[in-house]
Amino acid sequence: MKSKQNGASIALVTGGGTGIGAACCRELATAGFTIAIHYNRSHESAKKLHAELKNSFLLQADISTQQGMDSIYRELRERGGVEVLVNNAGMTVDAPLLTAKLEDFDRITATNMRSTWYLTKRVARLMVRNRRGRIINISSVVGSVGNPTQTIYGMTKAAIDNFTKTAAIELAPYNILVNSVALGFIATQMTEMLSEKARDAILSRIPLGRIGTPEEVAQFVRFLVVKGSYCTGAVFHINGGMHGG
Ligand SMILES: NC(=O)c1ccc[n+]([C@@H]2O[C@H](COP(=O)([O-])OP(=O)(O)OC[C@H]3O[C@@H](n4cnc5c(N)ncnc54)[C@H](OP(=O)(O)O)[C@@H]3O)[C@@H](O)[C@H]2O)c1
Repeated sequence: MKSKQNGASIALVTGGGTGIGAACCRELATAGFTIAIHYNRSHESAKKLHAELKNSFLLQADISTQQGMDSIYRELRERGGVEVLVNNAGMTVDAPLLTAKLEDFDRITATNMRSTWYLTKRVARLMVRNRRGRIINISSVVGSVGNPTQTIYGMTKAAIDNFTKTAAIELAPYNILVNSVALGFIATQMTEMLSEKARDAILSRIPLGRIGTPEEVAQFVRFLVVKGSYCTGAVFHINGGMHGG
C-alpha cells in the first residue's frame, strides 16, 4: 500500500512522540510512508523523532479538544489526504471507583474515546475521497477484562473496540479497513511507574513471562497496514497470552 504526497502516502500516528506511537512511526516509515508525527506535550521527543525520520512532519494538537482535532484534519487535507490513521494517543488516571473524580472521567473519555470517534470521523472523509485507508485503534486488555482502579480507562478501551466493529462495517464499501489492537502490558512510560510488587503481580499473569515491547506492537500494526487486506472489524490481542480475547 503506497500513494501520494511526494510519492509516499501519509500515515498519521497520534501520540507519535513517545512509547508505542513512536515505535509505530518508525515501523511505518520503514514501510515507505510519510509519517505525520502527532504529539501534544512531548515536543522534545517528537522533534528528535522527526529528525530521525527523513519523510516525516510534526503535528501538535491537544486531541481532547475539537479545535485540536480540526487542526490535524485541516493540515492533512492541505497535504492531499491520508492513508493510515493510528489512533494511539491515550491516558489514564487510576483510582478506585469509590474515590474516582468526575473531572478525571471527563478528561480520560475525551482523550481516549471522544477523540477516537471524532478524529476518525474527520480523517475517514479524506480516505473516502481516495477510496483507500487503514485505521488502527490502540485499545487494551483492560477493555475486555476488569482491572481494579481502571473503571474509566477500561470503559474507554471497550468503547473503542466496539467503535472499531461498527466503523469497519460502515467504511468497508470505501476500501477503508478498521481494526483494534488490544494490548497487554508493554514497556513504556505508562507502565514504568509501576511498583516492583505490581510488576511481579502482572508478570505472574503473563504466560510468556515478560512485558512486551513497543516494537512488537509496531510490527503487528505494520503487518495490518501493509498485508492485512482481508482483516477488518477485528480486535487483535497482543498480550503475551494473558487473555485470549
Ligand atoms: N503501555 C501499555 O502497557 C499499554 C497497554 C494497553 C494499552 N496501551 C495504550 O497504548 C497507547 C500508547 O500508550 P504508551 O504506553 O505508548 O504511553 P505513552 O508513551 O504515555 O503515550 C501516550 C501518548 O498519548 C498522547 N496523549 C495523551 N493525551 C493527549 C492529548 N490530550 N492530546 C494529544 N495527545 C495526547 C501523549 O502525547 P504527549 O506526550 O505528546 O502529550 C503520548 O504520546 C495508549 O492509548 C494506551 O492506552 C498501552
